[in-house]
Amino acid sequence: MSYAIYPSLADKRVVVTGGGSGIGAAIVEAFAKQGARVFFIDVADTESRQLEQALSNEKHAPEFLHCDLRDAAAIEKAFDDIAGEAGSIDVLVNNAANDDRHRWDNVSAAYWDERMAVNLRHQFFCAQAAARRMRMRMRMRTQ
Ligand SMILES: NC(=O)c1ccc[n+]([C@@H]2O[C@H](COP(=O)([O-])OP(=O)(O)OC[C@H]3O[C@@H](n4cnc5c(N)ncnc54)[C@H](O)[C@@H]3O)[C@@H](O)[C@H]2O)c1
Repeated sequence: MSYAIYPSLADKRVVVTGGGSGIGAAIVEAFAKQGARVFFIDVADTESRQLEQALSNEKHAPEFLHCDLRDAAAIEKAFDDIAGEAGSIDVLVNNAANDDRHRWDNVSAAYWDERMAVNLRHQFFCAQAAARRMRMRMRMRTQ
């Protein structure tokens, strides 16, 4: 496949959630092909390590972080690790989800909460974690 090249994406620090497989893996690859520095978060270790390997010759080899996005403390730690290594974050792609089909009459309160945690809650906390680190960088620039 051939790609248009967008020079403004080169060296951008990009975080992709659920980047180990499916649409997320395609997003990781597309940013890596633009020369961006990609960090991707997932629980699927085997697929994620294979993706790291497949893209290891790109300008910046994408880096996998194992993190269960249902765990807000683990999200904070993952963003700390990324910002610690890369300095800050420029782009966040909130992609992870688990689109499980179900019958409405089988939904329990526990199942509802688990679906919200895997499909919605982390989207806010990843945005919060990324925005805090972007703001820190802006403050440092203006000092
Ligand atoms: N709007 C639409 O029509 C439409 C269609 C297809 C997909 N989507 C959305 O696009 C996104 C990607 O879809 P996909 O088909 O590639 O899904 P997928 O299930 O193939 O991939 C999702 C990825 O998220 C990861 N993941 C799931 N739970 C996680 C957790 N708790 N912590 C960390 N990682 C976790 C999985 O391991 C997987 O790698 C999803 O948000 C999906 O809902 C939307």
